[in-house]
Amino acid sequence: MGALTISGIRKTFGKLEILRGIDIEIEAGEFLILVGPSGCGKSTLLGMIAGLDHPTSGSIHIGDRDVTYLPAKDRDIAMVFQSYALYPNMTVAENIAFALEMRKVPKAERDVTVQRVAEMLQISHLLERKPGALSGGQRQRVAMGRALARDPKLFLFDEPLSNLDAKLRVEMRAEIKRLHQRTRTTTVYVTHDQVEAMTLGDRIAVMKEGTVQQFGTPDDIYTRPATRFVAEFIGSPAMNLVSAEFGAQGVQCQGQALAVTEAQRAAMAAAGTTGLAYGLRPEHLGFATSGLAGRLDIVEPTGPETYVTVDTAIGPLTARVPGAVRHTVGENVYLQWDPATAHLFDATSGNRLA
Ligand SMILES: Nc1ncnc2c1ncn2[C@@H]1O[C@H](COP(=O)(O)OP(=O)(O)O)[C@@H](O)[C@H]1O
Ligand SMILES: [Mg+2]
Repeated sequence: MGALTISGIRKTFGKLEILRGIDIEIEAGEFLILVGPSGCGKSTLLGMIAGLDHPTSGSIHIGDRDVTYLPAKDRDIAMVFQSYALYPNMTVAENIAFALEMRKVPKAERDVTVQRVAEMLQISHLLERKPGALSGGQRQRVAMGRALARDPKLFLFDEPLSNLDAKLRVEMRAEIKRLHQRTRTTTVYVTHDQVEAMTLGDRIAVMKEGTVQQFGTPDDIYTRPATRFVAEFIGSPAMNLVSAEFGAQGVQCQGQALAVTEAQRAAMAAAGTTGLAYGLRPEHLGFATSGLAGRLDIVEPTGPETYVTVDTAIGPLTARVPGAVRHTVGENVYLQWDPATAHLFDATSGNRLA
């Protein structure tokens, strides 16, 4: 068995089935991401791993131990949640040291840990303050410090960075990654942010409406999204997806032929595909002197690259091109791509075809 094994988890609230059969297994030391839009069931699932709630059916094992109905306090986990409760009458240092004190860790050792954690989180100057005298972002960092001070079997995070400003969020993301590389504590991290998911995860479970759409490495998820939903959810700017038909003429969209490879054609023929979604990542589209004609509609420079949106016969397509763009808005341009980079999904099921 893995370090954490989630088997057949279902959860209903009244008549609503919020989790519809979740299976995930990770190894010791892995950093697991649960990512998906708001309301898809991430926090509900994390709460069950934490022991704050029980599933309607299914089981959760930490190592070999069945913890499905074990109280939270007996699971040897540390949690950082979206809403955090610090002890208001204790200083920051006392808050961070509290769990260690409960476990009778000697004072000298506690002090060293508090200093180390405070330095990591850039809150050394706040150690003597009470939570009431801190900003929201500072309180969140203290809550993280409290979890980091312990040495649990499992770290659980629920959107710990969502209350921080953009710059701090990027810094803290790197801190969490560095921390994990050092401690190798098995971690489950909930986020709705696909960049956090890609940058932090060893493996990612992409969730939608109480199901896992795909469970894989960041590379799997990005280069071979299993469903149309995953394809659209992961990646920024998002993958371009156009509705198309497959028949004797090949793939057609709005009377326009879209090139496919022999392997893609064979996969669609074997699957009996008629309707499909044809997907192209923005980085796989480029300007050319021939190809798909269109009118340049939006130019968004970011510095190292530029996002351009072109109105074409098959709809607006966003391309991500290196450096600056010399074309001007309103100009007629051509886009080209290698058909091997196209992602094809069945129009009805949304499942990947090739
Ligand atoms: N105790 C509850 N009773 C009824 N519905 C709930 C309860 N907890 C969560 N839900 C519902 O379950 C769904 C998933 O919630 P949640 O797990 O918090 O989503 P996420 O964390 O992915 O945003 C939501 O529609 C939410 O309203
Ligand atoms: Mg949530």
